[in-house]
Amino acid sequence: MSLASPRVVNIKDLRRLARARLPDAVFDYLDGAADDELTLKDSVKCFQEVLFKPRFAVATPACDLGVTVLGEKLSVPYMLGPIGYSRLMHPRGELAASAAAGRHGTAYILSTLSGHPMEDVKAQSKGPTFFQLYLAGGRKAAEGGLARAKAAGFKGLFVTIDTPVGGNRERDARNGMKALMGTNPFAKIPYLPNLLAHPRWLAAFIGDGMVRPFPNVVIPGSGPLAAIDVASALESAQVSWTDLKWIRELWDGPIVMKGVMTADDAKRSVDHGAQGIVVSTHAGRQLDSVAGSLRVLPGILEAVGSQIDVIFDGGIRRGADVVKAMAMGAKAVLLGRGYAYGMAAAGDAGIERALEIFEADIVRTLKLLGCSSISQLDPSYIALRPGFRVD
Ligand SMILES: Cc1cc2nc3c(=O)[nH]c(=O)nc-3n(C[C@H](O)[C@H](O)[C@H](O)COP(=O)(O)O)c2cc1C
Repeated sequence: MSLASPRVVNIKDLRRLARARLPDAVFDYLDGAADDELTLKDSVKCFQEVLFKPRFAVATPACDLGVTVLGEKLSVPYMLGPIGYSRLMHPRGELAASAAAGRHGTAYILSTLSGHPMEDVKAQSKGPTFFQLYLAGGRKAAEGGLARAKAAGFKGLFVTIDTPVGGNRERDARNGMKALMGTNPFAKIPYLPNLLAHPRWLAAFIGDGMVRPFPNVVIPGSGPLAAIDVASALESAQVSWTDLKWIRELWDGPIVMKGVMTADDAKRSVDHGAQGIVVSTHAGRQLDSVAGSLRVLPGILEAVGSQIDVIFDGGIRRGADVVKAMAMGAKAVLLGRGYAYGMAAAGDAGIERALEIFEADIVRTLKLLGCSSISQLDPSYIALRPGFRVD
């Protein structure tokens, strides 16, 4: 299957291919969000309320896309964010994402809820690799996971704080995600026709050994956490600020709080010794009706931007979106669905195409803006429509 232009011109094209390849349960898990998906819609829409202010007749011979974030020099301003259950989308899942990040000189953040052992994922890339921590499986499982991550050479931790419970993802409920991930074969029967209607995905899934336990959540005495749907996995995974002290005792590298949406939580992250935060709505999959994360970015940057690295994610589907967040002052951004649609469409080749598209888009956008490097962007290159900000 060719992923070249004109078949795949943008990320929407990869989304279309992912939808064709995946059964509804997996596509909707990737594409969907919580409740009425208001936050998801706003996350994409809010980019339309940021307008560029170009400077023409400026020479921009070679656009440097490099950034330094969390002490790491990256060749591009985007990292590949944690996507749980990537192996369900494609057998290579997390391995493909890690390898692509390494090839592009950037970082990969591996989800706790991943399908491949963290050591194998790390081995795919010479670039920096981070571990995203959920307390799924309890503290003892997390202790083991952190010790393994340290031994394997993970550079830092992203502690996700926006999942006191799983969000109400209605598409997952309708598609029988719980039954499909569970052990009762009879409960799966209503959903089988849709799986059978996607033979390419099904053959790959069966060839990969089907539903597997989580290799990076090992509960002492009982082994790897059995495969369960995301809502069940997050049921007992709440992290509190007091847990952070305990995490700090186990982890001496950089810690990043993921899911910060207010200046208060950003300041609290600084007070608790975090090196960075990710301004994020968790792809609109947790609390619905929070603003698209770009709207809170200016206020959070004003509060803590001079003290820690402020990373942004949510709704990035084009290189121009990356440029807008960087012009506001983000140190770097995370891609979520932006690369995961490619992974779900075609594994390694799909992620490669997504990253090619982002890189070409960013270079073109910078040249059109009259800005010769990503590090020279600042708020003077953009204007915010009235009412854009949420503080
Ligand atoms: C299918 C899917 C799975 C995700 N899994 C995780 C996860 O395991 N841990 C986490 O911290 N964030 C997770 N996220 C959130 C992403 O890391 C990131 O914050 C989000 O996807 C960014 O929004 P975007 O998809 O609109 O770009 C997930 C998002 C999606 C779409």
